[in-house]
Amino acid sequence: MRIVSGIQPTGNLHLGNYLGAIRNWVLMQDEWTAKGATCLYFLADLHAISMPHQPATLAENTREMVAALVSCGIDPDKSILFNQAQVPAHAELQWLLNGTARMGWLNRMTQWKDKAGKNREGASVALFTYPVLQAADVLLYQATHVPVGEDQKQHLELARDIAQKFNNDFASEEAPVFTLPDPIIPPEAARIMSLRDGSAKMSKSDPSDMSRINLTDDADAIMQKVKKAKTDPEPLPSEAAGLEGRPEARNLVGIYAAFSGRDVASILAEFGGQGFGSFKPALGDLLVDKLEPIAERYRALRIDRSALDAILAKGAEKARVLATPTLEAAYGALGLVRG
Ligand code: TYM
Repeated sequence: MRIVSGIQPTGNLHLGNYLGAIRNWVLMQDEWTAKGATCLYFLADLHAISMPHQPATLAENTREMVAALVSCGIDPDKSILFNQAQVPAHAELQWLLNGTARMGWLNRMTQWKDKAGKNREGASVALFTYPVLQAADVLLYQATHVPVGEDQKQHLELARDIAQKFNNDFASEEAPVFTLPDPIIPPEAARIMSLRDGSAKMSKSDPSDMSRINLTDDADAIMQKVKKAKTDPEPLPSEAAGLEGRPEARNLVGIYAAFSGRDVASILAEFGGQGFGSFKPALGDLLVDKLEPIAERYRALRIDRSALDAILAKGAEKARVLATPTLEAAYGALGLVRG
């Protein structure tokens, strides 16, 4: 079993990243490596240059994201933690897969449509071919499982399509070059929404910091953001069906459920009929309780830049070794002559 997943180092790690993906990364690392699985987690710095960016900020964010992931429980001795730019095989395999991916497939990607907006002519080529690099990221390691949030599902379906077409066109059924990966999406926290707008996902790129809870926020900031979170004037319902059509209430209850390990029904049994005036402080306390230890570890880790660089260097070395056989098989299957 190979578990592979990535995150863009484009800003703070927030609650959506944590509940949608990173928590599963840690869980799989702790439970699956004991059964012989290999976990590879990486910073998608190559993906980050598909949008306008500041080079100095990207380098800084990359190191800070390593510190944040380790604070969340990613253990560089158990998992292979690295950044794409130090493993050239990602970019190489992307080029090889560009021959298999179809323009029509990429044109249908909702992230491409959202991020390019109306200005497609002005969007970078990297933004368009972004999902092919993402396919390369997982296919390179023969990933069997990819823990992600709901918003990455379409990209993973594309990775499967690319793998299938490549295997059909260039390999035999008995000896496929690529494994088809399965996404692992948490049922209860697949899509955490913005605190300011229940119809938009919580995102690093939202200009309002009040829209998200960052894993590095201190207790005051967390309480303030929860207090100011958008809600409706109705009290909480007593049953889950009552959350229908109330996206903000559903989101806050969902976050409470994910962190407390309780199901929505038991939370509504406790808070149903009460206003947000009593639910929000309880949610704030729970978040502070769960996030403070992470923030504390982060503050200690982020200052030792050379230790963070050493983690990345060691991870990249291991990743390069695992990447080589598949990359060479792909070159060979395409008839490209290698020395
Ligand atoms: P990124 O950096 O946007 O997000 C990292 C992970 O966090 C999840 N996530 C969420 N989950 C629930 N609710 C939210 N509001 C929320 N926001 C983000 C994402 O689903 C993701 O799992 N393209 C990817 C990075 C990537 C990748 C890969 C992932 C590059 N190559 C290969 C998996 C496999 C991205 O931009 O994620």
